[in-house]
Amino acid sequence: MQRDLLHASGISHTFDYKLFNAIDINLKAQESIAIVGRSGSGKSTLLHNLSTFLKPTNGNVTLFGKDIYGLNETEIEQIRRYKLGMIFQNHYLFRGMRAGLNIELSSLLCGVAIEKSILDRLEISELLDQKTSELSGGQQQRISIARVLAKRPKLIFADEPTGNLDKQSANLVMDVLLENIKENDGALIVVTHDSEIASRCDKVYLLSDKKLELVS
Ligand SMILES: Nc1ncnc2c1ncn2[C@@H]1O[C@H](COP(=O)(O)OP(=O)(O)OP(=O)(O)O)[C@@H](O)[C@H]1O
Ligand SMILES: [Mg+2]
Repeated sequence: MQRDLLHASGISHTFDYKLFNAIDINLKAQESIAIVGRSGSGKSTLLHNLSTFLKPTNGNVTLFGKDIYGLNETEIEQIRRYKLGMIFQNHYLFRGMRAGLNIELSSLLCGVAIEKSILDRLEISELLDQKTSELSGGQQQRISIARVLAKRPKLIFADEPTGNLDKQSANLVMDVLLENIKENDGALIVVTHDSEIASRCDKVYLLSDKKLELVS
C-alpha cells in the first residue's frame, strides 16, 4: 500500500474560541484535495496546522512519516525548504526586487533551477525584469506561485492561489499545480472559494460547523 505523504488526526484549533475539532485528513502521492468553507471558518488556520507553520491545539500531523511538531527547528526547516511548497493567502514577495529575483532566491535556497516551462505556462516570462511593486495583483500572485514551484515541492499547500485571477488564468494555475504533483509524485491541498477550481481536485472537503466533511 502507498504511504501517506500527509496524515493528520484529531486536529483541533482554538484562538478566542474553538474553530474546528477532531479533524482527520490523509493525502497520498498523486492526490489533490480542495477545502472550501465560509470566510472565517478556519481554512487558513487548518492549512497552517497541516504545513508546519502553526501547531494545532490538539492532534498530530505526520508529513513524510515524521511527526512534524515533535521535530526540532532545524529538522522542520529542512522539510520546509526542500519538500513543502506553501502558497500563502497573502503572497509575500520582496516588493522592491525584480520579479525574477524573487524566483531566483527560492531556487538558490534549495539548489534547484526553475524550469522555464513553468514561467511560460504561468505567462510570466515577460515580467521577470519588472519591479514586483509595479505588477498587477494577479501577476504578483503568479510570480509567488512560480517562486514556490521553483523548488519542485513534494507537498503543495495553496491558500486561495487563484483569488486574484480571472477564470482563464485561474484554470491555468490549477493546470500547473496539478501537473506539478504528477511530475514530482507529489500531492496538493488547495483552499478555495471557487467551486469550479475545487471540482478539479480528486476530493472536495467542506469546513463547516467545526467539522471537515467530504462533499465529493
Ligand atoms: N493568529 C490569530 N490570532 C487570533 N485569531 C486568529 C488568528 N488567525 C486567525 N484567527 C481567527 O480565526 C478565525 C478563522 O480564520 P482563518 O483565517 O483560518 O479563516 P478562513 O476560513 O481562512 O477565512 P477566509 O476565507 O476569509 O480566508 C477568524 O475569526 C480569525 O480572526
Ligand atoms: Mg483564509
